[in-house]
Amino acid sequence: MFAPRAVDSRDKTEMYRELAQQLASLMAGESDAIANAANVSALLFQTLPDLNWAGFYFLHGDTLVLGPFQGRPACLRIPFGKGVCGTAIRLGRPVLVEDVHEFPGHIACDPNSAAELVIPIIDGERVLGVLDLDSPVRGRFDERDLAGFQRLVDILVSHQRRWPEEFARLAR
Ligand code: SME
Repeated sequence: MFAPRAVDSRDKTEMYRELAQQLASLMAGESDAIANAANVSALLFQTLPDLNWAGFYFLHGDTLVLGPFQGRPACLRIPFGKGVCGTAIRLGRPVLVEDVHEFPGHIACDPNSAAELVIPIIDGERVLGVLDLDSPVRGRFDERDLAGFQRLVDILVSHQRRWPEEFARLAR
């Protein structure tokens, strides 16, 4: 059985290297995208400090629909271009928000959220969804976190050879 190992969050480079290894072994041998996404959100939420939400939204046409996550119940659907998640999809790149109260159009699912990092999940031409991380600590995420989470999403995408047909917006 897989048991998440504690990660040393003082050294972010080492922390994300360790998480990348744990992520790869967690998904080894499993091809179901929802099962893998569920365990990825649990791994992140259990091992990383100062998170109050970690999870996925998957695109169905032009709408992001809530996927596996850890944290408080969240909004079910986010239209393309709306909120931090929809903005990351529209731009096709990660969005790092130091203070969500200063982000116009931020969608507050949990009033405790103060900082947010959203990484789009893109597999070739298919834009599939986002990994969304919320923190109650303003300024919680920096460029090293962005690079670390991008690496984790890259591992997920390269592992996941097949995605459910209904996920995705075809054109980038
Ligand atoms: N804050 C997000 C909505 C999703 S929740 O944080 C889980 C946004 O503005 O898109």
